[in-house]
Amino acid sequence: MDFTQFLLASGDLGEDGCDVFVTCFTQFEKEVPEGHRAIGRLVEQAFQVGDFSGKSGERILFYPESGQVDGIRAKRIAVFGIGRIEAGTTAAEIREMMRKLGGGIAGLAEKAKASRIMVRLPVLDRIDGGQTAECLVEGLALGDYRFVKYKKPDPEEKAYPGLREVILVSDSAESLVRRGMARGENAAKAACLARDMANEPANKWTAEDFALLGRSLAGKYAMKCRVMDQKDMKRLGMGGILAVNQGSSEPPRLVILEYKAQQKKQTLLLVGKGLTFDSGGLSLKPAAGMEDMKYDMCGGAAVLAFMQAVGIERPDLNIIAMIPATDNMSGSSAVKPGDVISHYGGISSEIVNTDAEGRLILADALAYGIKKYRPDCVIDLATLTGAAIVGLGHHYTCLLSNNDTLVNRLVQAGERSGEPLWRLPLGKDYSQQIDSRVADIKNVGGKGAGTITAAAYLEKFVGKTIWAHLDIAGTAWDFTEKSYIPKGPSGVGVRTLLELVRDWQKIDGSPD
Ligand code: BES
Ligand code: MN
Ligand code: ZN
Repeated sequence: MDFTQFLLASGDLGEDGCDVFVTCFTQFEKEVPEGHRAIGRLVEQAFQVGDFSGKSGERILFYPESGQVDGIRAKRIAVFGIGRIEAGTTAAEIREMMRKLGGGIAGLAEKAKASRIMVRLPVLDRIDGGQTAECLVEGLALGDYRFVKYKKPDPEEKAYPGLREVILVSDSAESLVRRGMARGENAAKAACLARDMANEPANKWTAEDFALLGRSLAGKYAMKCRVMDQKDMKRLGMGGILAVNQGSSEPPRLVILEYKAQQKKQTLLLVGKGLTFDSGGLSLKPAAGMEDMKYDMCGGAAVLAFMQAVGIERPDLNIIAMIPATDNMSGSSAVKPGDVISHYGGISSEIVNTDAEGRLILADALAYGIKKYRPDCVIDLATLTGAAIVGLGHHYTCLLSNNDTLVNRLVQAGERSGEPLWRLPLGKDYSQQIDSRVADIKNVGGKGAGTITAAAYLEKFVGKTIWAHLDIAGTAWDFTEKSYIPKGPSGVGVRTLLELVRDWQKIDGSPD
């Protein structure tokens, strides 16, 4: 399916008709705000009978008698409620209201099988026309997402291919609105790419597929792709990823994308867990829900999809993306509980539970990436622990870090993109939980604090580099359902990272 075209209206709206014309209102108390003509009078009627007052989630539909109202030719007029904006409502919250509005409009478009819609942008306090356009487009594009690749089309009904054209109508400065639209579209496209990867079943999305996509991105944008295979990993002593791959018949890959702004700029290293299927290995997972473990590559998907957005926006810093990719299977040569392995750089590890495999593949990538690229800052994304869901449910991503500045920036980026993060502590008491009798460390931390002890494992491999770990186990799928977040994979992380690198400010210092 081709992606929706987002356009900005110029001039006469009466020329070409549309399937739906959308306008919206923030919540009002006594009467419809002035300045709305025929549509305003219809809204007034709806208000009088108690059907509409601009509350979030409210929506009314009209069918213009002559196919035209207020000089607009449309089959339907839809009026959406935005919700209440109060004195204390933050810009980030208003941005989120716009995304939800976009998702709601996409939902209506699907019901109406609309292909061409027009949306009049509201004028809001605290966010400008650019941000309004950005978040609305983002919500529309994210909400219009569907994954139907493996479904036979229903012979009775024509399948809805999604929105073809969205025309925005705005009174704000054109350049501002266009810039916002481009940002929103770019962010949503990348997040949808991450969802696409995650939706692919494990028999269709393997480590090699990460490599293929990495190479294709490098072909399209100004970035280089390197792919390491098992031989390279053996030569470099990447015992973690090799151990996890031992029980599999599918070869492992370490995919690296290098985007260079300028040599003298700061370098950000990203590492995403690309575990294409997590059976648990010999420490086999229970059958119920195991199918969801095809999503265990969502960290890798987010990092790779983010690089597509980077390729288009070209932010002002160097970015290295690494995806260690393999599945975790229990074939006859699988790694066994009790085995001792050695990571890149020489730290030895006792494998107590083969299901704690994510940290093993991330450790090699982190250690190698830091040694090779000397980044100023490292962020890893991983569906690392079920304990993240126990702790924060499906609403917040767990954030663990050795640097307060980076934490603040990530939390802010998360707020502005509607992907909230919550920090958990690190420290020596937790690190001690992964002390081993036979090796330098072991891969599980015993009872309690599973998300933290997993991060403590990674911490051993980042040394003095500024680092943050995002445990997206709770948010990568089953994320808080919203109009623009469907069931299934959410694409979480992509938009947070993008928000973080836009207008990147130098970060320095050492771990706190
Ligand atoms: N991929 C899982 C974590 C996971 C579980 C993510 C459920 C999302 C939903 C990870 O590899 C894993 O199995 N972690 C173990 C660690 C334990 C053995 C210490 C877990 O969380 O149970
Ligand atoms: Mn596991
Ligand atoms: Zn896993």
